[in-house]
Amino acid sequence: MKTSAALDRISPSPTLAITSRVMELKRAGVDVIGLGAGEPDFDTPEFVKEAAIQAIRDGKTKYTNVDGTPELKDAIVAKFARDNKLTYSAPQISVNVGGKHTLFNALVATVEAGDEVIIPAPYWVSYPDVVQFAGGTPVVVPAGAEYGYKLTPEMLERAITPRTKWVILNSPSNPTGAAYTVEELKALGAVLERHPNVWVFADDMYEHIVYDDFRFATIAEVCPSLYERTLTVNGCSKAYAMTGWRIGFAAGAPWLIKAMAKLQSQSTSNPCSIAQAAAVAALTGDQSFLAERARAFQARRDLVVGMLNEAEGIICPTPEGAFYVYPSVAGVIGKTTPKGQRIESDSDFVGYLLDDARVAAVQGVAFGLSPAMRISYATSEALLTEACTRIQQACAALR
Ligand SMILES: Cc1ncc(COP(=O)(O)O)c(C=O)c1O
Repeated sequence: MKTSAALDRISPSPTLAITSRVMELKRAGVDVIGLGAGEPDFDTPEFVKEAAIQAIRDGKTKYTNVDGTPELKDAIVAKFARDNKLTYSAPQISVNVGGKHTLFNALVATVEAGDEVIIPAPYWVSYPDVVQFAGGTPVVVPAGAEYGYKLTPEMLERAITPRTKWVILNSPSNPTGAAYTVEELKALGAVLERHPNVWVFADDMYEHIVYDDFRFATIAEVCPSLYERTLTVNGCSKAYAMTGWRIGFAAGAPWLIKAMAKLQSQSTSNPCSIAQAAAVAALTGDQSFLAERARAFQARRDLVVGMLNEAEGIICPTPEGAFYVYPSVAGVIGKTTPKGQRIESDSDFVGYLLDDARVAAVQGVAFGLSPAMRISYATSEALLTEACTRIQQACAALR
């Protein structure tokens, strides 16, 4: 038996590959600092765990509605009203097994051969692969540090063709932490108003992790004319430190929500009943810890940006949100390591960091924009200080 053509169009997630490599090294007793993982180091809040335990005790252990319990859909409707001033009703809500599953459902339900999906680079690694799995063509638009890692209206206009079905906007971004201001979203919205067949996939997974009083906004909120053709996507994974619980969700046009449910009904069925009960607690409980955690992340961001900018050959912009930095490593390309290896690419450089400095980062090529690397600072300040010191020493040792 041979694997399917659809499967052959995708690759295993490079970020998950780094995480398992770090786990292997740690098991072998190597003192490696993993800065590759895309998850908060904080624990799921106690009140969320308690809600899950109560759900088990209450017998909420059976199948639920395919795309979410009525209680969770109501909590999500209330979340969008509270946080985003967006009015949705239950038939506009889809609950899925993590935000990655939301992406998968939305694209596989709508994208056909020949359809184009605009993806600004650097991008979250799953976007192009899921587009390709669905049979579509990713149209990658480079938006480098000189643009604050953000798509400009001109870039968007140039990328749109009669085959464009979706544009994916991710703010704050994985891997760069860049976030769009209200004005920037409005300017992109003005372009999209001229192209009524293009839909927007607004991935707001890092909504609650923003810094320096940055005002988070999402495109359906600031461009009401795009409300009907925007899928506003969010989830519990990052804000509520619930990556293992697998709850993602989306709000949008009822026909699209139904199409996603049809696909889900023949794949995963409902998301875990207990995780859904936990998500209700997360979304409706006291939200004050979100700002506290964002403050802790901000201190780490400042530490990492400061220390990386002191490393020879690295230039690190200051991101608005998420828990990643995406420094350029252009200044180390062409240099030689103490073992005599020439660094030709960002993959070579992160390989050198792993082998010699025992720090795991992810090569920029995985996110579609090189030479750079992604560093996740969702770990303690002590470990971050040690990791950045090792990176500084590794850079200084290059000739
Ligand atoms: C930008 C972005 N969107 C969506 C997701 C999906 O999150 P999950 O499937 O863990 O809910 C991630 C996770 O890394 C992400 O970085």
